[in-house]
Amino acid sequence: MIRTVPTKPYPDQRPGTSGLRKKVQVFQQPHYVENFVQAIFDCVPDRDGAKLVVGGDGRFYNREAIQKVIKIAAANGFGHIVVGRGGILSTPAASNLIRVRGAIGGVVLSASHNPGGPDGDFGIKFNVANGGPAPESFTEAAFARSKAIDVFRLVEAADIDLDRLGVTRLHETTIEVVDPVADYQALMERLFDFDRIRDMFRSGLRFSFDAMGAVTGPYAKAIFERALGAPDGCVLNGVPLPDFGGHHPDPNLVHAAHLYEAAMRPDGPDLSAASDGDGDRNLIIGKGCFVSPSDSLAVIAANAHLAPGYAGGIAGVARSMPTSGAADRVARKLGVNVFETPTGWKFFGNLLDAGLVTICGEESAGTGSSHVREKDGLWAVLMWLNILAVRRQSVLDVMRDHWAQFGRNYYVRHDYEEIDAAGANDLMGALRGRLASLAGSDLGGKRISVADEFSYLDPVDGSLSSNQGVRLLFEDGSRIVFRLSGTGTVGATLRVYLEQFEADPARHNLDVASVMAPIAAAAVAVAEIPAFTGRLKPDVVT
Ligand code: G1P
Ligand code: ZN
Repeated sequence: MIRTVPTKPYPDQRPGTSGLRKKVQVFQQPHYVENFVQAIFDCVPDRDGAKLVVGGDGRFYNREAIQKVIKIAAANGFGHIVVGRGGILSTPAASNLIRVRGAIGGVVLSASHNPGGPDGDFGIKFNVANGGPAPESFTEAAFARSKAIDVFRLVEAADIDLDRLGVTRLHETTIEVVDPVADYQALMERLFDFDRIRDMFRSGLRFSFDAMGAVTGPYAKAIFERALGAPDGCVLNGVPLPDFGGHHPDPNLVHAAHLYEAAMRPDGPDLSAASDGDGDRNLIIGKGCFVSPSDSLAVIAANAHLAPGYAGGIAGVARSMPTSGAADRVARKLGVNVFETPTGWKFFGNLLDAGLVTICGEESAGTGSSHVREKDGLWAVLMWLNILAVRRQSVLDVMRDHWAQFGRNYYVRHDYEEIDAAGANDLMGALRGRLASLAGSDLGGKRISVADEFSYLDPVDGSLSSNQGVRLLFEDGSRIVFRLSGTGTVGATLRVYLEQFEADPARHNLDVASVMAPIAAAAVAVAEIPAFTGRLKPDVVT
């Protein structure tokens, strides 16, 4: 029943920051999925008899792709395939399942926060045995293999019934359809004080969580509404839909503007939150107080010990380079490790595996810990609920206390999306060429102390990642970072990250846009953004 099918390679199957991500139509080309999946499996030498986890965020083409993955995996010798019911697994839940089931890895079908539907995006990523994204050495090997592939193998059989829990056989492979929520929920119940959070809901905390028509709906309903007793209906858009119900499941101030507006009203929820397509990102907004992801990371690092799973304290904090330095201030005060890594969750894996850090985060709304090897949206929301339940304070008061203690790192990110790729590369090239002359020069009335391109030497495996973004560090502690996105599917996206530190408590409650205006103008000028991109202002400000 195993068929070997001749095929021709596609030259464009290079995985980016988080797997291979393209338009749905690209994935629908004949053998496109088959080729890439076979290329991945060819790079897993120990797959014979091994366990594999498979699931996705429920977006358009999820079910079709999962059937292909299962049939190809069965033909490639995997012994046991664990798949989420309905083809559903959030990214953090998949990471957890890989770990608790002792799988050799997992195939996660998702394009994260990118839009879904027939005209939207699709994606395939491979996670390894620690539950985290495959390292660059693996994805590069898979890319190389994809360019040479001439056959793939699959088991010819009827489709697996993904909607019925239980075990079936496919050729010589066991296929097990599992509840996508159960193991994940059990993990959350171990980490957080559910009794205390339940009490807080009982005493009237007003909470709203938007699953944005994507994967977290079933998780949020089970955990917030059923296990924690949050009021029915506090989970919005809680059914995963192939087109996410038309939502763009990116939990930021643009795509979740309705949450922000509600939270700014005097009668708004005490805590509003959201997650993205595959459930690894988070948005946290208190009444009258948006919490920037960089600040959220710092608050979580400072307060993690209030949750039972972290009562013994944390080993350290890691943040991606463009993330603000707020968490570093906490780590220094706690006397724990702090690491600055390139963008992308995979760099945290080695630090977590080595026990060097416990809490990790990125400015792009990703926060997580040693409990899995992916960022975790619902985990961040539960951590905030746990913090509020113990401290008995509003989000705004938690933030004010935090800034008073550590100072405030004002922060904003400007994105220029779908710009011409050549122009974007030229802009970065021009900056790179001027680094030596920028260092020591004045910009916007301030002295640049360091101008460089970030590179990272992994302290665990010694691998070097270069070209990870251009940094301008100013003498007064402020910073501009320029970087091209690795996850876009159309043209290029330029990200400009701006940061300014303020120690004076009298200046902790200013309007962020006003505080950042001068440094934002300096960034536009120094990189000549209008000249290289044809854009006068960013598309997204987060
Ligand atoms: C973006 C974020 C990055 C995150 C990645 C995957 O990548 O900036 O922090 O790890 O998505 O969610 P980028 O498009 O910037 O390469
Ligand atoms: Zn995501």
